[in-house]
Amino acid sequence: MSATINGTTQEARVAVNCKELTKTFGTGNAAVKALRGVNLEVRSGELLMLVGPSGCGKTTLISVIAGVLRRDEGDCKIFDQDYNRMSEDDTTEFRGVNIGFVFQAFNLIPSLTTAENVGTPLIINGMKPRAAVSKAREILVQVGFDERMMSSLPTDLSGGQQQRVAIARALVHQPRLIVCDEPTSALDGETGHKIMELLHTLGRGEGRALVVVTHDSRIYEFADRIAAMEDGRITQVVDSASQLKPMQKKTD
Ligand SMILES: Nc1ncnc2c1ncn2[C@@H]1O[C@H](COP(=O)(O)OP(=O)(O)OP(=O)(O)O)[C@@H](O)[C@H]1O
Ligand SMILES: [Mg+2]
Repeated sequence: MSATINGTTQEARVAVNCKELTKTFGTGNAAVKALRGVNLEVRSGELLMLVGPSGCGKTTLISVIAGVLRRDEGDCKIFDQDYNRMSEDDTTEFRGVNIGFVFQAFNLIPSLTTAENVGTPLIINGMKPRAAVSKAREILVQVGFDERMMSSLPTDLSGGQQQRVAIARALVHQPRLIVCDEPTSALDGETGHKIMELLHTLGRGEGRALVVVTHDSRIYEFADRIAAMEDGRITQVVDSASQLKPMQKKTD
């Protein structure tokens, strides 16, 4: 199984291919149709930004793409692989190797230090803890952390610092697909810019891709393409922010 799981089709020129994807939360009167038929392609090598008003389904969509949420209907292929054709164990293994996820709520482990948090994906993929923490420290230096901050617990860090830890953790194992949910929302303009430079440099490349959900127009310049989402559907995909047609609702 590992051959198919880890060795995703190398020549895949499409990183993500979603067709008529649907996802509904709840049932009956309480049902919320979060995804109503999403069609989206993320090309290998690109950074695609996903924008749209609060509640339009952005987090739901990237959660399905990252394999942390199962779709209801439609197709979703990640480097030609389909979570629905994998067992739970294989999905976990595939995600561990191929996906880096920066969650909107950071999801850091409170009992682990910064460096231990960042090293977790490497340990899950079989690296020895000492080597993992050492590798984690290297990437933490790149997001601007000093020795003291690396030994801190998440609760001792500011929101912006926690966000940088979450980003370092998503990058550390060099996944082929990185999905980020508002990676600059807790950062000042300068730090946000630096973080995007880092994501742009370390996350892109042949056979790799990033999907970045954002409300932050200051970082649009880092996008290769921008996909706009409204009410559970992708309504436009453009090459630059200047081509975005006004949305029905404001983006925030
Ligand atoms: N676990 C859940 N249970 C029930 N409803 C949910 C759940 N997650 C999301 N929803 C609903 O699905 C819709 C889409 O939510 P989602 O979080 O994907 O939006 P979003 O575009 O990421 O919004 P925001 O910009 O505020 O983060 C919303 O109406 C939301 O209330
Ligand atoms: Mg969201």
